[in-house]
Amino acid sequence: LTYDLILIGFGNVARRFVALLDEQRHTLARRYGLTTRVVGIATRRHGCVYGSSAAVSGFSRTLTAGRMQDGPSKGGHFVPATTLDFLRDALTRSRAAARQRRLVVVETTTLDIARGEPATRHIRAALAGGAHVITANKGPAAFAYRALARAAARADRRFLFEGAVMDGVPVFNLVRETLPAVNVIGFRGVVNSTTNFILTAMEQGQPFAAALAEMQARGIAEADASLDVDGWDAAAKTAALANVLLGAGITPHAVARQGITPDAGRRAAEARAGGRRLKLVARARRERRRVTARVSLEELPADDLLAGLEGQQNAIILETDLLEEIAVVQRGGSLTQTAYALLSDLVTIARATPQSPPSRRGHRSL
Ligand SMILES: NC(=O)c1ccc[n+]([C@@H]2O[C@H](COP(=O)([O-])OP(=O)(O)OC[C@H]3O[C@@H](n4cnc5c(N)ncnc54)[C@H](OP(=O)(O)O)[C@@H]3O)[C@@H](O)[C@H]2O)c1
Repeated sequence: LTYDLILIGFGNVARRFVALLDEQRHTLARRYGLTTRVVGIATRRHGCVYGSSAAVSGFSRTLTAGRMQDGPSKGGHFVPATTLDFLRDALTRSRAAARQRRLVVVETTTLDIARGEPATRHIRAALAGGAHVITANKGPAAFAYRALARAAARADRRFLFEGAVMDGVPVFNLVRETLPAVNVIGFRGVVNSTTNFILTAMEQGQPFAAALAEMQARGIAEADASLDVDGWDAAAKTAALANVLLGAGITPHAVARQGITPDAGRRAAEARAGGRRLKLVARARRERRRVTARVSLEELPADDLLAGLEGQQNAIILETDLLEEIAVVQRGGSLTQTAYALLSDLVTIARATPQSPPSRRGHRSL
């Protein structure tokens, strides 16, 4: 089955996702009978395009080559009043694919820490227009998980966001797909790569600014890096995890939050010299009917799993009722892993779509 994709946001993650779909096209076709084509792309400053594969791939190539630096392009591409206008128009034009349940909106706009917008509006519109939604943006699950999950159920479409936390390493999928009857009571983890990288570098005497610059150069830090260092990215992930796994119904603003500053360098080095590690730890726990959540600097004993995380590594330890603690560790983070999260969400949708032909020649038909 060919899925039509409308990409809302076309930055680091979306570009890698498109490239990964191409690299994996034989595997996806063989194992899942899944092929894709991009029918629309929206950006904030460079205009939007909807239509033939020639028009879309021309636009995408120009953007990827960085030739569209200033302002929206002319010639073939158009500039709607808002992305939402573009999306509504694209959904109308794609209604045949939507009816056949093979339309997917891929939301990868930047994180808005004030309200999770306009990403949440994009997702509501997409679901109402009959599209499935996959996103690596943590804003929607952090601010509006309950409402969006209800909207998806009402529309009989999927809203999936595996890439919102720990890139492609399964956290939401792990709980949803493989832990039937298990209740998650709480979790703790290191969930922001940039701050863990900076803390590790500062333990070894490297300056804060140089470590941050390296994360920006690798495309790992948020577009606005203060979201990482001030703890907002971790707070958004904590809220998303708490909303999905603990039914919390909170926003990142309800997460008690601490970030890191250059001053943390001395503390990190002293902790290490004393056999401990300074980590920015995210925690949430359900106590009776209330969920408490926080992100704070903690000095951890060396034998704590979280203390062993170096550089960009992340981990989450889930506290459960039937299986005690389950730890998921991400030893390396990259754009490919985030792009993979979107790919895995797409496969989740394809597997559940009745028209999807069964895999005949693939070795795995999971
Ligand atoms: N990078 C990572 O490693 C990583 C990992 C996990 C999750 N994420 C999440 O994935 C998302 C994308 O990250 P990224 O690194 O790809 O960011 P990015 O390179 O800054 O790209 C963001 C894209 O969104 C577009 N955009 C922003 N606001 C928009 C709007 N209102 N309407 C239409 N387009 C809009 C931008 O357009 P312009 O270029 O025209 O401004 C750009 O194309 C973020 O939410 C991020 O938190 C990223």
